[in-house]
Amino acid sequence: MTQSSPQTKTAGAAQAPRPNVDLKSAVAEASALFAAANPQSQAKHLEAAGSMPGGNTRTVLFFGPFPLYFTRGEGTRLHDLDGHTYVDFLGEYTAGIYGHSHPVIAEAVTAALAQGIAMGGHTRHEVALAAALRARFPSVDLMRFCNSGTEANLMALSAARLHTGREGVLAFAGSYHGSLFGFPFKPPAKSINIPFPSVIAPYNDLAATRKLIDENAGRLAAVIVEPMMGGGGCIAATRDFLAGLRAACDKHKIVLIFDEVMTSRLSPGGLQKVHGITPDLTSFGKYIGGGLPTGAFGGRVEIMGMFDPRRPDAVAHAGTFNNNVLTMAAGVAGLTKVYTADEAVRLNKAGDALRERLSAMCKKRGVKVVVTGIGSMMTVHPGITGPVNSPADVAAVPQGLRDLFHYDMLARGIHVARRGMINLSVPMVQDDFDRLAAAFDEFLSVRAGLLT
Ligand SMILES: Cc1ncc(COP(=O)(O)O)c(C=O)c1O
Repeated sequence: MTQSSPQTKTAGAAQAPRPNVDLKSAVAEASALFAAANPQSQAKHLEAAGSMPGGNTRTVLFFGPFPLYFTRGEGTRLHDLDGHTYVDFLGEYTAGIYGHSHPVIAEAVTAALAQGIAMGGHTRHEVALAAALRARFPSVDLMRFCNSGTEANLMALSAARLHTGREGVLAFAGSYHGSLFGFPFKPPAKSINIPFPSVIAPYNDLAATRKLIDENAGRLAAVIVEPMMGGGGCIAATRDFLAGLRAACDKHKIVLIFDEVMTSRLSPGGLQKVHGITPDLTSFGKYIGGGLPTGAFGGRVEIMGMFDPRRPDAVAHAGTFNNNVLTMAAGVAGLTKVYTADEAVRLNKAGDALRERLSAMCKKRGVKVVVTGIGSMMTVHPGITGPVNSPADVAAVPQGLRDLFHYDMLARGIHVARRGMINLSVPMVQDDFDRLAAAFDEFLSVRAGLLT
C-alpha cells in the first residue's frame, strides 16, 4: 500500500475490498470505491462532457465510471485532483520514458524556448535528431519527421504505395498502427480507418500469412507489422515469423514496414536490432521527441529519396509542426544524454527482471495470470494461463477482470492502463518496482478466488 499522509492520500482504498465475491459484484464494488474516492475528478469529467463528447479527446484515456484528472507529475509520481499520488507505471503508453519533467529534457526545452520557436524555417535541432536516430537505426538511410505515430504509419504506407505502384496493405488482426489504421481483434461496428484495401492476417502464424501474401502479392504494396504488439497486449513476434515476412516481401518486392512506434525503445536499436532483421521502412513516435508530440518514418534511400525536394519529380510531404523546435530539441537531449544505448540496455534489463518477478508471484500463488512483454513494456492478463502468441490467446480474458486489476492497482497508488499495460521509465528505482510488486501480490491474494 502507498503510505498515507496529509499530502499523499492512499488512492481510493476507502474500504478494503471483500475477497472472493463473484466477478460482477467485485467490479461493481471496486468501481463504487473508486467513485467515492475521486469526487473532484468526477466533477471535472462532468464539466468536460459539456464541451467534448463524453468529456473525451483521446479515446484510450476513457474508462468507466470516469477517468482521473491529473494536476502534476514529477519524476515517477503523478498527482490527481483529489490529492492522491500514484507511481506512474503507465508511462504515457511508452512516450513517457523520461518520467515527468526530467531535468535534462526540461533544460533543453527551456533553452530552445528562449531562442524562439515556430521560425518558419530549419534549425540545427532537426538535423541533430535525425542524425541521432540514424545512428541508432542502421536500416534508416533517410528519414522525415511528422507529428504522431499515426502520421508516421500513414506516410510510410503511402510511400510504399507510390514506390510499388500497388494499393493494398497486409496487416495483422489485433494490430494498432494509429487512430486511422488499426485492426482490433474484435472489430467494432464502425471505424474511421483510412480506406486502403487491406488483407488481415493472423499474427505469428507464418504459414497462413505467407499464403495470404502469395495469393495477394500482385496488389500488395506493404506488409506492416509491430515486432511486438503493444496496445494488442505486449505480444512478441517470434524471430522466425519476422524473418519469414522479410523473405516473403523480398520474394514479391513488397515493402516491409516495422511499426516501432512503441518497440524502438526495447534495445539501443529497437526490435529490428534484437532480431537482426532489416525492414524497408520503420515508423517511430512516442518517446523520440523527449515526451513532446512527434512521429518519424524512414528507411531505404530508394523509397525515401522520393521526398527529396531537389528532384523534379519530388513527392510533397507537408506539416507545419514536422520540425517543431521544442520537440526536436527535447528529442536530441533525450536520445543523446538520457536514453543512451547503455541506458536502453539497463532499463530493459530492469523490465525483464520485474516481469519475471511478477510471473514468479503468479506461479507461487497458483493463480491464472500471465504477464507478457519484452524489457520495459509488459501487460498483465488476468484469468488465463499462457502461452500467449497472438491476440486470440488473450481474447478470453473477461473485461471485468481487466477492470478489477486496474481499480485495485489504482487503489494501491499504482497507475497502469486499464488494459493492464505497464511501462517503465528512466527515473524508476528499486523502491518503485517493490511498490508495484507489493500491490500486484495483494491483487493476486485478495482476488485469488476469481483467478483460479
Ligand atoms: C504501434 C503503434 N503505432 C502507432 C501508434 C500511433 O501513435 P500516435 O498515438 O502518436 O498517433 C501507436 C500508439 O499507441 C502505436 O502503439
